[in-house]
Amino acid sequence: MYDGTRHERRRRIVPTDPVRRSDTRKRARILPRPGRGDVSASGAYAELEQTRNVVSETLRLYPPTLAVTRQATEPVTLAGYDLPAGAQFLLPQWPVHRDERYWDEPTTFDPSRWQEPESRPGYAYFPFSAGPRNCVGMHFARTELTLILATILDRVELDVSMDGPLTFTPSLQLRPETDIEATVKRR
Ligand code: HEM
Repeated sequence: MYDGTRHERRRRIVPTDPVRRSDTRKRARILPRPGRGDVSASGAYAELEQTRNVVSETLRLYPPTLAVTRQATEPVTLAGYDLPAGAQFLLPQWPVHRDERYWDEPTTFDPSRWQEPESRPGYAYFPFSAGPRNCVGMHFARTELTLILATILDRVELDVSMDGPLTFTPSLQLRPETDIEATVKRR
């Protein structure tokens, strides 16, 4: 999939993300400020609904794993195509997570979309893959991301100073091509 030149690889996954800098504050506001108490305390995760939604939305637009692979153990017909045993499949999160058949305004960073009960097909979102061989660390990773994000934002304000779209270098994981600079201010 990413066997082109470095430039071509980059171009293919430059997001057309319409989140603008002016939205930064709005985005910051949707994060909780636990303030009193320790966000790692038992029960905190359940209360951090908005932070969980931010994590879900981040994993949708910027899935750290770009694709999962599978190999057919027997002949299979998929979407009308007859495929032999041994056929290899690449299941890429990036385009599926941005497919307008499943997502309203797919390139908009909108954590509130996770407030509604999910009406899309189950496999339209699979940052941790799916099925019996999906990520065994999924729950741990989600919990960790949520608690760390809430802890950081409880203590500091982040102002990301970037012009232009984010660009990424595909490798084993999705990585920003350049450093992302931010001003960090104690709250
Ligand atoms: C944001 C964080 C993470 C993401 C997006 C992620 C994503 C994935 C994906 C897409 C797979 C491939 C599954 C497949 O082929 O169907 C995988 C496998 C795996 N992940 Fe994660 N992962 C994350 C964090 C973690 C953590 C924290 C751990 C361990 C504590 C972990 C342990 C594993 C293991 C052991 C497998 C192999 C499962 C198997 O082959 O049966 N992951 N992960």
